[in-house]
Amino acid sequence: MKTNKTRLRVTVNGETCEKEIPTGRSLLDFLRLDLNLTGTKEGCGEGECGACSVILNGRLVDSCLILAVEAQDQEIQTIEGLARNGGLDPLQRAFAGNGAAQCGYCTPGMIMAAKYLLDRNPSPTADEALKAIAGNLCRCTGYGAIVEAILSRAKQP
Ligand code: FES
Ligand code: FES
Repeated sequence: MKTNKTRLRVTVNGETCEKEIPTGRSLLDFLRLDLNLTGTKEGCGEGECGACSVILNGRLVDSCLILAVEAQDQEIQTIEGLARNGGLDPLQRAFAGNGAAQCGYCTPGMIMAAKYLLDRNPSPTADEALKAIAGNLCRCTGYGAIVEAILSRAKQP
């Protein structure tokens, strides 16, 4: 019987790994089920909420919309890759310190979107910060605290 499996090799948060996976598995499920990287969340499963945001080869993507096999030999950064020496990254601390994480479900995706912005634009305006998280839904915070957290990590121009 045909197994419909694929051997996938990717680099996740700097570490290369290889796994045999069902060919139709999403990148989100691959991260959560095969690699046990459960920081990346599933919200809508259809590209609407941004809870599953990760950085794939330098692009911010919704991992629920991408097949894991599309990431063959590519580099992925997830929220787990931000922590340093067992401690929180300054951006994660900024979210915590500004009350930008309440239930926390959207937070990993928000932080990846914020990181993507700050890596490209270290001194964003509030408008730019708001646009950067436009694809990420939060039911708790009203977004103001999230924008404040992002701006607290902005460098003075
Ligand atoms: S779970 Fe991927 S966009 Fe909502
Ligand atoms: S903190 Fe609850 S959905 Fe954003």
